[in-house]
Amino acid sequence: MSDSSPSAITAELERLAAEATRKLASVDELAELDRLAGELLGKRSALAGLKTSLGALDPEDRRRVGRLLNDTRAELEAAVTAARERLAQAERRRRLEAERLDLTESLDRIPRGHVHLVSQARDRLEDVFVGMGFTIAEGPEVETDWYNFEALNIPDWHPARGSFDTLFVELGEPEQVMLRSHTSPVQIRVMESTEPPIYIVAPGRTYRADTADATHLPAFNQIEGLVVDEDITMADLAGTIDEFVKAFFGGEVTSRLRPSYFPFTEPSAEFDISTPDGGWLELGGCGMVHPNVLRNCGVDPERWQGFAFGFGIDRLAVMRYRLDDIRELVNNDVRFLSQF
Ligand code: DAH
Repeated sequence: MSDSSPSAITAELERLAAEATRKLASVDELAELDRLAGELLGKRSALAGLKTSLGALDPEDRRRVGRLLNDTRAELEAAVTAARERLAQAERRRRLEAERLDLTESLDRIPRGHVHLVSQARDRLEDVFVGMGFTIAEGPEVETDWYNFEALNIPDWHPARGSFDTLFVELGEPEQVMLRSHTSPVQIRVMESTEPPIYIVAPGRTYRADTADATHLPAFNQIEGLVVDEDITMADLAGTIDEFVKAFFGGEVTSRLRPSYFPFTEPSAEFDISTPDGGWLELGGCGMVHPNVLRNCGVDPERWQGFAFGFGIDRLAVMRYRLDDIRELVNNDVRFLSQF
């Protein structure tokens, strides 16, 4: 540089700083940055050259321009550090990107499943009854004679036992342990462990030694309802069933009770729901809890009354979706199941 006046040096410093900033901004490789840092700050840099030229200035100017030169140097050093950090970050990002597993492609290709038809029906039943103030209860699928029969007012000589086609489990005492043939034993368990008032429904799997056909499955699902409170009458039972039927099937559907017999209820009834063509479909059994059953659970029948009901969830799904054959529910044919 020929002109080494203070103003010329100052102008040159500004030019250098601007040029360095521009170059640093466009660097995209570490090696390139190292080279540039040497060029800007090294022994042979323009900056170093300017420093030498300070010697020609008078002391006052030398101090002032010298300070400016130091500031510029500090500024360039900071800019190099910032550029180094920017490159390191970009490198980290590149590495992460390369190591990331892209799962979206395979997800796109696997069709999404959904909740099984029977589970959907069970979930909806629970929702409807919870909406009516019931809570959900559960019991074991392997039961003793007491819970499955005896406490439900079905002694071992009782002819009603024959209708349950019970599957027995040999566990030390043959004929004493069985796969529950209905969800009614949950009534007993709840009354034994809970003080009335009781408002529960108990959905669950049940078993009978039935050969599967269009209307039967050996392993199926029922839902049990039990209410025990003061001043409960048959009208409460009929009202609850009707309310449930309307909530589950829709407002146009009504229900009716027909006299029937169950050992654990007195009086007993079967309940039907109306069909669009003016007919009736049988849904389940119900009745006023038999005083013997209340007594078996330590509930005083003079003070408390109750009603109970029970019906098949799989049957309900068959009715709701107008299936021809209940076995479709367990054939595990995705072409069938994916329709619902
Ligand atoms: N447990 C009976 C069955 O499986 C159904 C039933 C009838 C349940 C009347 C009840 C009831 O709670 O009151 O055939």
